[in-house]
Amino acid sequence: MNPVSAALLIWYRKNKRVLPWRKISDPYCIWISEVILQQTRVNQGIDYYMRFIERWPDVEQLARASEQEVLKLWQGLGYYSRARNMRLAAQEIVNKHNGVFPKTAIELKKLKGIGDYTAAAISSIAFNEPVAVIDGNVFRMLSRLFNEVTPIDSAAARKTFLLLAESLLDKNHPGDFNQAIMEFGALQCVPKNPDCENCTLQTHCMAFMLKKVDHLPVKRNNVRIRKRFLHYFVFLHKHEQQCYTLLRYRGSGDVWQGLYDFPCIESDRILSISELEKEHLFCAIKSVAPEIIPISGIRKHILTHQHLMAQFYIVKCNNGFEHVKNNSLSLVSQTELGNYPMPRLIDQFLYENENLFDNC
Ligand code: ADE
Repeated sequence: MNPVSAALLIWYRKNKRVLPWRKISDPYCIWISEVILQQTRVNQGIDYYMRFIERWPDVEQLARASEQEVLKLWQGLGYYSRARNMRLAAQEIVNKHNGVFPKTAIELKKLKGIGDYTAAAISSIAFNEPVAVIDGNVFRMLSRLFNEVTPIDSAAARKTFLLLAESLLDKNHPGDFNQAIMEFGALQCVPKNPDCENCTLQTHCMAFMLKKVDHLPVKRNNVRIRKRFLHYFVFLHKHEQQCYTLLRYRGSGDVWQGLYDFPCIESDRILSISELEKEHLFCAIKSVAPEIIPISGIRKHILTHQHLMAQFYIVKCNNGFEHVKNNSLSLVSQTELGNYPMPRLIDQFLYENENLFDNC
C-alpha cells in the first residue's frame, strides 16, 4: 500500500471522532449525514442528524414526509433545495427501487440531488465501492501534500484533485480511507496554523518541505456576492383573542422555495418611506393600515453568495386583508408560526422580537 495511505489509515483509526453515523453502515443514515455535513460543521450537524433520524428512521418514512415538515427540520442549514431533493430521492428509491438503495456511485447519481460527492461517500462507506471523494477538506490537504497549485475554485480543479485522491485511495478499505482523508483535512490539515510539527504526513508533504503550507490551497476567489435589500412587512391582526400575521409562501425558482417569510418589497438599495410609496404593495398595505412603523436598525444576514440587508416594518391592521392578500399569502396565527419553515433571517427576527405580538 502507498505509505501515505497507510499512514492516513493508522492516523484515522487512532484519531477519528466518535460520530453517530460511524457505528453503522446503513446507506440511508450515511446519506443523511453526508448531506447535512455539506451544510454545516460536525458539532451542529450531529443535532440535525439525530432529529432527522428520529423523525424519519428509514427511507420509506422520509418518502412519506411532507415537504413542509422536511424544510422545517432543515431550517437554519440553508440550501433548502437539498432538503427538498432528499425527500424526492427517497420517493424514487421507494417507488423505483423497492426501497433498496442503489449500490454504485453511477446508479446513486441518477437520484434527485445526489452528485459526485454524495454518491462516492455513500457507495464507498456503505458498500465499499472504491471511488474517491473530494470535499473542501480533501482539496486543502491534497493541494499541500502534492504542492498542487491548480486553484480549487477553477473549472479544472475537480478532475485534477480527483486524480490525486484516486492515486492514494486504498481499494481494500475505500470507506475508511475516504473518511480518513476528510477527517485528516478537518482535524489536522486545518486552514490556519496547522500543527505541522506533529503531523504524521510531515515527511511526505511537499508544501511543508517548500515552506508553502500557508499559501495552499490556491483560490481564485471569483465568487460574486449579490447584495439584496428586503423591506419586510410584519402584519399584526387580532381576531377573537388570537394574534395573526401574514406569511408569504416562496414559490418555484426562488432560493427559498418552499419556505415562508413576510410580505416583502425587494430593491437594489434600502428605500425610504417616500420611495416605498411608489410600490404597489406598499400602497395596498397603507390602504388597510394607516400606521406602518419601522423597527429600528437594518438587519444584515450573510449567505455564501448573497448579503441580505433587511428592514422590518410593523403593520397594525384590523380588517381589509383582502386588499393585500393574494394566492401566496396566508393568515397564520401566532401559535401556528412554529410549524412554518422560514429562512434563518426571519426566524432570528421572530426569536429576537418575541414580544412582538404582545401589542397586537
Ligand atoms: N465531512 C463530511 N463527511 C465526512 C465524513 N464522513 N468523515 C469526516 N469528515 C466528513
